[in-house]
Amino acid sequence: MAARILITEPIVDSVIENLQKDYTVDVGRRGQFNSVDALCEVIDRYDALMPMLSNPITAEVIEAGENLRIIANHAVGYNNIDIEAAKNANIHVANTPGVLTEACADLTWALLLSVARHLGPAEDFLRDDKFDGWDPLGFLGTELYGQTLGILGMGRIGTAVARRAKGFGLNIIYHNRTEVDAETEQRLNATYVPSPKKLAARSDILSLHCPLTDETHHLVDAEFIEQMPGHAILINTARGPVIDEQALAEALHEKRLAGAGLDVFEDEPKVHPSLLDAPNCVLTPHIGSATLQTRRAIGQKAADAIKGILNDRDPSTIPNLLTA
Ligand code: GLV
Repeated sequence: MAARILITEPIVDSVIENLQKDYTVDVGRRGQFNSVDALCEVIDRYDALMPMLSNPITAEVIEAGENLRIIANHAVGYNNIDIEAAKNANIHVANTPGVLTEACADLTWALLLSVARHLGPAEDFLRDDKFDGWDPLGFLGTELYGQTLGILGMGRIGTAVARRAKGFGLNIIYHNRTEVDAETEQRLNATYVPSPKKLAARSDILSLHCPLTDETHHLVDAEFIEQMPGHAILINTARGPVIDEQALAEALHEKRLAGAGLDVFEDEPKVHPSLLDAPNCVLTPHIGSATLQTRRAIGQKAADAIKGILNDRDPSTIPNLLTA
């Protein structure tokens, strides 16, 4: 009997079709598996699981998945999975690093440019038929050239953001758990700053690219925001809970920060109500990796890890296994 795979939501067709050649594949409905109960009810029927970020793969789900051999997250982040519980149950876990780097860096820039140049309100103004000709004082934004961009988390995505920043003529400073190698620093013309708070104090624009861990949870809180200059812009395409949204919303409303661009939220899909009406705040619904090319590549990478395990390949030869 062919092994059974559960893909929790519809993903790019070609990835599903590819898996269907060798396996029995069930695809859930959008949102169907956003709860532990819904997962626990069916998970024992499957040998492999491809969950989305919105699916809580807790210890309880893992225990209920008595036939599971692999969980291949359809994402690079894996804070939705209890990795320790999976390891203890001898279930492999995979993620999809690399393929969404450029798409996510592009969106970081889209948010930054949109905040700096008030694109949302300017477009609304035009569509509302208020455009009455060139206005010497209309929608004055801030120029990026010559400003200092602080990058918190200089991994793949942070580096791709820095590469783009060079073209925009920004000065680049960064903080990372470990300093990046000298050659990369030189290539990006990036200067290491020894603490996140010092980075905050020195950045005109601060962009977050760190994973969500116990250390980074609410790293950007009221005290952190106080370090930031009043003209600073904050961008988050990493994980929502890195920011204390209440503190950020207050700072924006009180004009203690010039603006923010957020693609991720503390309690997705909920968005803090005070962010919805905060001044100069651009909000997008977690679309950092949302290009057709990238979503196809994410699906394919997760599918490859599933195939490797179901075909009994030596786990040490399967890329992107977090548990090998
Ligand atoms: C998206 O946020 C991802 O982690 O892939």
